[in-house]
Amino acid sequence: MLAAFYERPGPAREVLQLGELPDPQPRPAEVRVRMRWSGVNPSDVKSRAGSRGPTLPFPRIVPHSDGMGEIDAVGAGVPTGRIGERVWLWNAAWGRADGTAAQFTCLPATQALRLPDGVPDEAGACFGIPALTALHAVLTDGGVAGQRVLVAAGAGAVGHYAVQFARLLGARQVLATASTPAKQALARDAGADVVVDYRQPGAADQLREATQGQGVDRIVEMDIAANAALDLAVMRPGATWAVYGSGAREFQLPFFPLIAQEALLRFFIVYHLRPADRARAEGLLHDFLMRGVLRHNIAQRVPLRDIVRAHELVESGQAGGNVVVQVD
Ligand SMILES: NC(=O)c1ccc[n+]([C@@H]2O[C@H](COP(=O)([O-])OP(=O)(O)OC[C@H]3O[C@@H](n4cnc5c(N)ncnc54)[C@H](OP(=O)(O)O)[C@@H]3O)[C@@H](O)[C@H]2O)c1
Repeated sequence: MLAAFYERPGPAREVLQLGELPDPQPRPAEVRVRMRWSGVNPSDVKSRAGSRGPTLPFPRIVPHSDGMGEIDAVGAGVPTGRIGERVWLWNAAWGRADGTAAQFTCLPATQALRLPDGVPDEAGACFGIPALTALHAVLTDGGVAGQRVLVAAGAGAVGHYAVQFARLLGARQVLATASTPAKQALARDAGADVVVDYRQPGAADQLREATQGQGVDRIVEMDIAANAALDLAVMRPGATWAVYGSGAREFQLPFFPLIAQEALLRFFIVYHLRPADRARAEGLLHDFLMRGVLRHNIAQRVPLRDIVRAHELVESGQAGGNVVVQVD
């Protein structure tokens, strides 16, 4: 099969290769998926770049945890009726050598979920990380019904879904940050009531004013290191700070405002969702997909042969949404 892979960490154009690898065969309890689309996330790019350490956990890694395709073979114990099913995948490259940037991947049958009819193929490559991260950020710690919610990066791969999920799950007001007018429009189209450019000096004041001075009940944060001061200025007492990213490895937080606000600081990583949380998020996602109420912000579709460009786009932070690689 044709696959993208790397055998040492480093810059995309130095280490990513395209070549033939043996077709994988499903083991017991696994399915084999003929990939159509492979989703590229910042996490895949950081792993390839070596930010998780100078050595790889496997001699060769086919990158990307997210993807969409069709089951074409099953291992022992998996019903043959699943052959032909359109599926979306999660955690394909988390703790595993064989991700989705290849013509085939084998993985546990439980990590290949039926894609509801009518959902575009390439959207299925955006669920495992972006959509489930966004859903968990709004579901955790009691959910967002009746809340004022601030979503950082309302046009980002995760943020764009988070705005929609907050809206769909009953938030009273959804606020978002985004830099350019085009990104602000994306966040507004996703359902944000108020969108503010986080780079402007008066951003915190604008956000607070938009809440009539009340502050927000929940912040869905993609870069706590960069946005801590803004977040602290706009949260109301008892707010939940749902943090899924940081632009810096280390950062400082001031003790007094946090204790005075009695803030709940919730860090999480989507790869480690507990089974009950994952099941709840997947159930809701499928419900929204079947109702056809979600927009998918696919910014770039890149052929597998241009895998380096796909990684560099994600690395730049300027893709303006999800980057998906066409495999078939
Ligand atoms: N914990 C987890 O499980 C998990 C899951 C998914 C992602 N992540 C992490 O979350 C981060 C975002 O992921 P993503 O896939 O959504 O990335 P993305 O699609 O590249 O989105 C990043 C967006 O953030 C905006 N941005 C940059 N700095 C910002 C700031 N200080 N405040 C507000 N917006 C800012 C960028 O646009 P502008 O600056 O032009 O507005 C861009 O639109 C990454 O670090 C990723 O590794 C973690």
